[in-house]
Amino acid sequence: MSEKILVTTALPYANGSIHLGHVLEGIQADIWVRYNRAIGNKCYFFCADDTHGTPIMLAAKKANKTPDEYIKKVHDEHYKDLTSFGISYDLYYTTNSEENKKLAEEIYLRLKEKGNISDRNIQQTYCEHDKMFLPDRFIKGTCPKCGAKDQYGDSCEVCGATYSPTDLLDPHCAICGNVPVLKESKHLFFRLQDYQAPLENWLSTPGRLQEGAKKKLLEWFETGLQEWDISRDGPYFGFEIPGEVNKFFYVWLDAPVGYMAASRKFFETNEEEFNSIWRKGEGQIVHFIGKDILYFHGLFWPAMLMGAEFTTPNKLYVHGFMTVGGEKMSKSRGTFVNASTFAKHLDTEHFRFYMAARLGSGMDDVDISFDDYLSRVNSDLIGNLVNIVSRVSTSILDKLDRRLGTLQDEGKSLFDKLLASEENIRKNYEERNYHRVMREVASLGDQVNKYVNDNAPWVLVKNDPEKARKVVTTALNCAKILFLYLYPVIPKTTQKVINFLGIEGVPDFSIISQKIENIQLPAYEHITQRANEKGIQDMIEETKNEYDKAQLLAGKNNPSIASNQPDQTGKSESKGNSTDTVTNDGYISIEDLSKVELRVGHIKDANHVEGADKLLQVTVDLGEHGSKNVFAGIKSAYKPEDLVGLKVVVVANLKPRKMKFGMSEAMLLASGNGETLSLFIPHRDANPGDLLK
Ligand code: 2FM
Ligand code: ZN
Repeated sequence: MSEKILVTTALPYANGSIHLGHVLEGIQADIWVRYNRAIGNKCYFFCADDTHGTPIMLAAKKANKTPDEYIKKVHDEHYKDLTSFGISYDLYYTTNSEENKKLAEEIYLRLKEKGNISDRNIQQTYCEHDKMFLPDRFIKGTCPKCGAKDQYGDSCEVCGATYSPTDLLDPHCAICGNVPVLKESKHLFFRLQDYQAPLENWLSTPGRLQEGAKKKLLEWFETGLQEWDISRDGPYFGFEIPGEVNKFFYVWLDAPVGYMAASRKFFETNEEEFNSIWRKGEGQIVHFIGKDILYFHGLFWPAMLMGAEFTTPNKLYVHGFMTVGGEKMSKSRGTFVNASTFAKHLDTEHFRFYMAARLGSGMDDVDISFDDYLSRVNSDLIGNLVNIVSRVSTSILDKLDRRLGTLQDEGKSLFDKLLASEENIRKNYEERNYHRVMREVASLGDQVNKYVNDNAPWVLVKNDPEKARKVVTTALNCAKILFLYLYPVIPKTTQKVINFLGIEGVPDFSIISQKIENIQLPAYEHITQRANEKGIQDMIEETKNEYDKAQLLAGKNNPSIASNQPDQTGKSESKGNSTDTVTNDGYISIEDLSKVELRVGHIKDANHVEGADKLLQVTVDLGEHGSKNVFAGIKSAYKPEDLVGLKVVVVANLKPRKMKFGMSEAMLLASGNGETLSLFIPHRDANPGDLLK
C-alpha cells in the first residue's frame, strides 16, 4: 500500500551562504524522497529559510537593506544553490510568512491556555548605545579561563571553555565596542518539564530515533528538563508575541513551525491534506537534521506539538557533520566550500554520486576527500557504469543498424541476477544505507563489464553479428536496471540513459524488470564528462580567495594563514560546521611529503584475523616492489571476499610494525569510520606498484 510521507530538511539561516554541509543534508534527504516517490509513495518534501533573529536583523542593516529585502535576496540564492544539486523540494518557503505567524501564535496560545507558559524577570547584557539586548555572540571580551582576547560571550575559541557573557573580562558590544550594562526585563518561558513523561514515551517508540540520538536525548532527561526562554525584547526581527508589548518569539520557536507553514502554503487549496498530516496523523512526518540541532527537534519541538495537539514527528534522521580529509571544513584551507562555488567548477550530479557512496544511516561525521571524489566518479560512475552503455552504443551498434535483439540464455541469466538485487537495494535505501546501495550496484556493474569483456562484441560484430547483437542487448538491458537502481542518486543521468533506451517519463522502480528488445536506438550522446583535477583545484582556489577577501574586508592581515577568527555571522551558522580554526602548526613541508611512498597495491588475498574485532589481514601486491602483509582496521566496512582483486592506495615505505597478530608491513589509505569507512581506490587501469604523485 502506498504511504503518505512529509519530509523536511533543517531550515538554513537567511544569512550566510549554502555550503557543502547543507548540501550533504539536502542530498541525503533528496535520495530518500526520490526513492520513496520511485516506489510509489506520496512523498512531500519541504524546506524554507530560517529568517528571524538578531544576527539577520543586523546583517540586513549592514547591507543597507530592510530585513524583508535582505531575506528575499538570500532566499533566492539559497533556493538556486540547493536546487542546483537536484534537490527536489515541493516548496522552499520562508519562516517570515503569514502562515508561519498564524501557526506560531496558535501553538503559543494553546500552550498558554494549558498553563505551560510562565514568566519572570531576568537580567541580561544590554548595549545603551545600540539600545538592544545583546545575544551571547554579540558580546566580546577576554576569556576568563585562558585570557585569550576577543572571544565571544558564550565560549572561547582558543581554550574551548564555555561560560556566560557576564564572566567575560573586559566585555564590550561587538557592534559598537561600548561596554554593555546589565538590564532587567520580563521573559516568557515554555515549561518543557510539563512534558517530561509524554516526551519519554515519544522517544522510546521503536524506530523513531537512531540509538545514538535516543541516548543523547535521555542524557538531558537525567539532569531534568528545564524551562525554555522563548521571548526576546525588541528590536528583534521576528513575530510579536500576542498579548505582550515589544516582545517577540525567539527565532527557535517559530523556526520548526516553518516546516508546518511550508506545508500549509503548499496545501493552500487543499487544507484537508494539511489537516490529514498535521492534525490527524495520517502519514509520516520525517525530519532530516544534523546532530547539533537534535536538542531542538527531540525535545522542544515535539513538546510544542504535543501541547498544541498537532502530530509529532514520526522520525528524526540525524546525520553527523561533514569533514574534509578527516578535518573540520576550513575556509582558509579552501575546504569550506560554498554550494555555488562547487557548482561553478564541478558537476553537482557527480557530487550526489560521491555523497551517496559516503552516506550511511549513522550519526558519525561524514568524511569526504576530493581525491576520493575524483577516483569514485571516474572509476565507479564513468569507468564502470557509464562504460557499459558507451562501449556498445557507438560503432558496434552502428554496425548492427542500431537495432537491439532479444534477451536470451546467458544474457537473460545475468539480467535476472541483477533483478534479484532489488529487494536488498530497496532495504538499503529505506534505511539510508546508501553506501551499501552504491557498493552493490558497483559490483553488479563489474559483472556486466566482465560479461562484455568475455564476449568481446567488437570482435563478434565482424564475424557473428547476431551474437554481437545479443551481447549488446544484454549489456543495455543490464545498464537499464543499474541506472534505475541509481535513479534516486543520479536522477539526471538516469533520465538520459533511459530516454536513450526508448523509455519516456520520470523513471521509477515499476519498470525495472521491463525488457528493452527489438527496438532501434538513436545516435549515442555523451552521458556525462569525467571529473577533472583542474575543477577541484579551481574550486579550492576560489574558496581560499573568498576567504582572503573576507579577511581583508574585516581588516585582518595575513590572509590564508593563522587565524582564529570565526566569521562574523554569529550563532547563525551551525557552529559545528562553520568555525574555522587554523594555526600555523601542523603543516609538513613538501620535502616531508616526498618521503611518503604512496603506491598502487593489488589485493591478492584477505582474511579474518582470529581474535581481532577491527582488523583484516591483507596481502597486497606492489608489482616489482614485491608483496606486503598488512593488518588493516577495515573490518567494519569490508568482507575479505570483497577485497580480493581490489586496487588500493598503500603507504609502501612505512617501517614494518610488530602487531599482536604479526608484522604489518605497509598501510592502506582509507577515510571515514564504521560502515562508511572507505578505502582510497586508484584508477582502475593503474598498475600495481605505480607511484602516486
Ligand atoms: O541550525 C540551523 O541552521 C537552524 N536554522 C535550523 C533550523 S531547523 C528548523 F527547526 F527550523
Ligand atoms: Zn553597542
